[in-house]
Amino acid sequence: MMEGYLHKMADLTATAAASPNIALIKYWGNRVDPLRLPANGSISMNLDGLEARTRVTFDPSFITDQFILNHHQANSADLSRVSVFLDLVRQMAGSHLYATVESRNNFPIGAGVASSAAAYAALSLAAAKAIGLDLNEIELSRLARRGSGSACRSVPGGFVEWLPGRSDRDSFAVTLAPARHWDLVDCITLISRLPKPVGSTEGHTLAKSSPFQKARVADTDRRLELCRGAILARDFKALSTVVELDSNMMHAVMITSQPTLLYLMPGSITVMQAVIHWRNNGLPVCYTLDAGPNVHVLCPAESAKEVSLRLEQLPGINQVLLAHPGGPAHLIEQI
Ligand code: DP6
Repeated sequence: MMEGYLHKMADLTATAAASPNIALIKYWGNRVDPLRLPANGSISMNLDGLEARTRVTFDPSFITDQFILNHHQANSADLSRVSVFLDLVRQMAGSHLYATVESRNNFPIGAGVASSAAAYAALSLAAAKAIGLDLNEIELSRLARRGSGSACRSVPGGFVEWLPGRSDRDSFAVTLAPARHWDLVDCITLISRLPKPVGSTEGHTLAKSSPFQKARVADTDRRLELCRGAILARDFKALSTVVELDSNMMHAVMITSQPTLLYLMPGSITVMQAVIHWRNNGLPVCYTLDAGPNVHVLCPAESAKEVSLRLEQLPGINQVLLAHPGGPAHLIEQI
């Protein structure tokens, strides 16, 4: 009865857009892997101008789920991850309908610009709307978390904190400050466009094998507090100190995991060293890297032109993309 009721209320199709986010305090490792309950809280900034657009269509005549990614049938691993996620949506709605999911990104996938965050934030919103679930922002963020942890931070807008919680119910992300609060720029320095050899999901399971993970997690509340304070006070100097420290701590865990996870490439180190040198000479700038070789170079908007010009002149740089703080996931008319 519930199924018939929801379907009558729903259009069975909806389209949504969401931005990726750059973690300022990183999520690395889960307390409970299948639920993506994180080992620690994290903070991020949504990236304006980069987006995933996703259309979901449920249909009683479909006999299986389909996933079309950037105009091509997705591979079986990507399809099965989407299908497992849709099972969750179907379970919430009491529905058995299969769906076609069509998703497009306007930025490179798999190389340190968190494409799964944007993808699962957009998919959560589109799928929930299509099947007739009326979810508030917290419920959507919880749902997106089940698809990809960092996706819960791409549901709300601006500067966002993921409250780690103790259970599925209280692990979700909220806006700390809206996008207009502080015009920071992420100069995303692409070193490689190759897909990474070990994805984040597998990486999270290796975190515990590093002797440094315990110390990193134990110190997180302190870093979160420093980062929150720096954002609210628009204090770039304080932000750079904690952001670089946090990125270095996560990569220290990665490098000391068994087996070793080494995402940094020679070009990454070139950029990191240049950033430190520029900052020591008075330019407000800092770096952070997610699970990939590309370096996110942050600076206040006034310095973005200078910073991107300097980055483009470094050897081994593929491209520099600029992103200001971005808004929340939202419904759109068409893909
Ligand atoms: C290094 O959210 O991509 O970017 O939940 O398995 O999809 P899954 O992992 P994911 O992990 C993100 C890791 C990170 C840090 C961060 O974004 O906080």
